[in-house]
Amino acid sequence: MLEEIKNAAAYINKIISGSPDTCIILGSGLGNLTSKIDILNSISYSDIPHFPISTVKGHKGNLIYGLLGGKEVLAFQGRFHYYEGYPMEQVVFPIRILKFLGIKNVILSNAAGGVNPSFSVGDVMVITDHINLFAENPLRGKNYDELGPRFPDMSEPYDKNLIALAKSQANELKIKTQSGVYLGTSGPTYETPAEYRFMKAIGADAVGMSTVPEVIIAKHMGMRCFALSVITDMGGSDDVEEVSHDIVLHVANEVEPKLTLLLEGMLKNMPL
Ligand code: HPA
Repeated sequence: MLEEIKNAAAYINKIISGSPDTCIILGSGLGNLTSKIDILNSISYSDIPHFPISTVKGHKGNLIYGLLGGKEVLAFQGRFHYYEGYPMEQVVFPIRILKFLGIKNVILSNAAGGVNPSFSVGDVMVITDHINLFAENPLRGKNYDELGPRFPDMSEPYDKNLIALAKSQANELKIKTQSGVYLGTSGPTYETPAEYRFMKAIGADAVGMSTVPEVIIAKHMGMRCFALSVITDMGGSDDVEEVSHDIVLHVANEVEPKLTLLLEGMLKNMPL
């Protein structure tokens, strides 16, 4: 496993010339941010040794290296979901590679269902914390001491400084944001009304099928994490709205420019 991670990282390191600090992982219908990147290299997932291949509509399979807001970044255009059937080790494989590329900040986006009834479709939520309800923890099994500790601390899963930077940029750019707790679930079913009530009761503001495994792995390796949800449908109100992947992609696509603007502003103002 570690050898595979190192091989994949060595392949990428040979192609990219610089040393980016930040990696961005883009969610369903949110891959367009890469159009704002001055691309220096684009690497197809299929060329990276041991790399899984993405299967879901709305996800492209490229690792982009370039400049965003004047800063070097890596961007994964498409990610691997547990519901697709990948073992957790594969879901988090791209994140583990980052350790050997010298990445310090991991920024993630996702589409999510609104649990907090005060949210609306199209809202952008800054994730301040998460609840892990995935069927499996990605760190279950042998611990790689070279990557991080057996029992990693999770007292600050989302970096407070990056959250503050997002809030100040959102203010400056007049982008309205919500803040809240993201509940990660295995999927692929969307939630029943009873599940939505349960999620609300245990303190979730939004629910989705990604991000949590990646953040756990990034934190395990000591990286700073920041994540945004686009609320694509509302389950938290009295009537749970019917939802489909097409609706999720449609709303995500509509909100995407706001998200891109915010992330670009954050990168511009990120300390080197
Ligand atoms: N539930 C889970 N994942 C989602 C949802 C949802 O309602 N919307 C977008 N991703």
